[in-house]
Amino acid sequence: MADPTSAPLRVAIVGSGGMAVARAERIAARSDMDLVVIAGRNPETRASLAARFGVEHTQDWESTVARTDMDAVIVTTHPDTHAPMGAAVLAAGKHLFSESPLALSPLDASRLLRLADQSDLVIRVGHTSPLRPGPRLVRRQVAVLGGALHDDLVVHFPHDLRAGRDAGFDQRISGHPLVYAILLGYPAIYGRGPITHIAAAVTQEPAGHAFDRAVAVVNLRFRDGGLATITYRRGFDGDAESGRTVICRQGVVDFSEAADHIGVTDAGGPRMLLIPDADPWNDELSEFVAAIREGRPMSVSAREAARVVDIIDAARRAADAGSAFAEI
Ligand SMILES: NC(=O)c1ccc[n+]([C@@H]2O[C@H](COP(=O)([O-])OP(=O)(O)OC[C@H]3O[C@@H](n4cnc5c(N)ncnc54)[C@H](OP(=O)(O)O)[C@@H]3O)[C@@H](O)[C@H]2O)c1
Repeated sequence: MADPTSAPLRVAIVGSGGMAVARAERIAARSDMDLVVIAGRNPETRASLAARFGVEHTQDWESTVARTDMDAVIVTTHPDTHAPMGAAVLAAGKHLFSESPLALSPLDASRLLRLADQSDLVIRVGHTSPLRPGPRLVRRQVAVLGGALHDDLVVHFPHDLRAGRDAGFDQRISGHPLVYAILLGYPAIYGRGPITHIAAAVTQEPAGHAFDRAVAVVNLRFRDGGLATITYRRGFDGDAESGRTVICRQGVVDFSEAADHIGVTDAGGPRMLLIPDADPWNDELSEFVAAIREGRPMSVSAREAARVVDIIDAARRAADAGSAFAEI
């Protein structure tokens, strides 16, 4: 291991897609991290990413995570691989940064937590959405307005027909549609405390592993009596927007993914608040390094990331159980 006080954290990235690029760009601009190697199955993207940052590349992620000249591994592959790759990283004695979700089952998530605890290793999961400046500003305003009574959050990918599209349409790779409903709807859950009721429903066409279009709706009730509704849509045409309306005890907060401001309405009338600039993808890396080097708490702990997996599992069980309401 490198000198824990001064040497940069030596990292490998597994995967060479969108998030591998996003993390590599940020690591390259940091003095406390050193990208050593890219391990990916895609020969073209891994070679071009490695060339861009002047590092090695290989197809063999298993040997990569076992290397002794590495302190941490960033897993940027699809959800089906996170648990086995994460387990191999931790078993090799390396700190783990995994893109979300931590795992696709609570059993796998708890195994990863146990492995990390046994060897005193840090797990950070890339739950970036609640740390983005828009959702952070919303959260602050919701607190000012006395807390949320109902958070209505919509995730809609515009012009998202399936032809030629990504792994998000294949449940064998990305998990059930409720996985991304919860991951992308997480800003409505983050920091709201324990969930006491959960109901969910999913419609998808065609039935089976790979779908062309799907809608997932999750209803949550929190211990403080507040509610949230998360709607996640994939595979539709048109340009509908993603956003949120949070009905608070003393006002309303509106957020659109496309806007540079949020709307706040209270007893003083409506106003707009500009969303500040920030780089949450880099902030997550900063938290990861500070947790390893100084034992500092992270905004999303490994346990909270495992709780997200539990929430996904509870939503799936609720959807499988069918509606709690009789047909009238
Ligand atoms: N933090 C955030 O804001 C954020 C944003 C978007 C996504 N994500 C998360 O990041 C992860 C990746 O998403 P993405 O958008 O980067 O996907 P992507 O662009 O499709 O990249 C995934 C990469 O993983 C590689 N890969 C998949 N399975 C592999 C395996 N078994 N062995 C080696 N390499 C493998 C893929 O190779 P091929 O090219 O051969 O497929 C590709 O290079 C997902 O878990 C997603 O939830 C996070």
